[in-house]
Amino acid sequence: MGMTDVPPAATPTAAPSLRERLSLAPWMRGLAWTTLAVNILLVVTGGAVRLTGSGLGCSTWPECHPGDFTPRDELNIHSAIEFSNRMLTFVLVVVAVATMVAAWQTRRRDLRWIALLILGGIPAQAVIGGISVLTDLNPWVVSVHLVSSMAIIGLAVLLLWRIYVGATAAVSGPTSWLAWATFAVAWLVLYAGTVVTGAGPHAGDPNAPRNGLSALQFSQLHADLVCLLIGLTIGLLFAVHAFKAPYAVRRAVWVLFAIELAQGAIGWVQYFTDLPIVLVMFHMFGAALISAAVTWVLLAVAHPSTDGSVPVE
Ligand code: HEM
Repeated sequence: MGMTDVPPAATPTAAPSLRERLSLAPWMRGLAWTTLAVNILLVVTGGAVRLTGSGLGCSTWPECHPGDFTPRDELNIHSAIEFSNRMLTFVLVVVAVATMVAAWQTRRRDLRWIALLILGGIPAQAVIGGISVLTDLNPWVVSVHLVSSMAIIGLAVLLLWRIYVGATAAVSGPTSWLAWATFAVAWLVLYAGTVVTGAGPHAGDPNAPRNGLSALQFSQLHADLVCLLIGLTIGLLFAVHAFKAPYAVRRAVWVLFAIELAQGAIGWVQYFTDLPIVLVMFHMFGAALISAAVTWVLLAVAHPSTDGSVPVE
């Protein structure tokens, strides 16, 4: 029996039971991919809110304007953008609930836990987003909002990993430590990026406070950390080739490396061209991809699938 635990029909002619027909377990893979995709999309739409200066398009939270959950009476481009982003939360809820139900029906404890954490991330993010609005877009709060999305993206990748590869034992050793170091530095880069944003011009609203730090110095720190990240990734590339890691592991590290180079290039160009909105949006998309790719690399290197564990069909 596959890991979905949906028993095959007893005879070729037996019709599937109602329970089997209603089961979402066969959709587990598709739902996990959708979870990853909508969370990445949300990073980009959240970026659009900030970059178009629509962060306070709805003046309060959870209502859009005092006494009204929609922007209907004070509709303008900013309130429409902010409200659309809030509405995307409902898409996220539908996907997360469906994923949770599917995970439940697979009867796999690990999938259930990860799906539950992803689902729990939505109210957490709604509250952090709400606090962002209620603190007039305090940059430190907005930073936590983005970093939390990056963490949920990491969880979505963990879910996919568990589905495709199953549970495998962690391996220790220099290559594994290198993967952990790469993972940790990638997170420092992500966080430092949000600090640069907090110091920069795209506050999300013309009157929103800035963090008062030097955008120049923190851009430098952000870029220095990127150099360290790229250096570690090159080291990891050498290691996985030297130790003749399976092709899938080598490919994962190459994919991460390629995304880092592209993302680094976007970072430099946006820095030297005074942060055009479209480029900054691509930079946020790239950051979401980095979060996904570095999680996959960590799992691929530290939990290689050598025991033939059974994936979900
Ligand atoms: C692996 C490479 C990189 C990653 C993962 C990364 C990640 C990020 C993240 C997560 C943000 C915050 C976005 C936000 O708060 O909305 C950011 C902002 C920023 N990054 Fe990077 N970054 C990378 C490379 C670079 C490089 C090489 C530069 C060159 C200086 C750079 C310049 C900037 C600038 C100027 C901002 C602020 C944008 C703004 O004010 O809106 N980044 N980055």
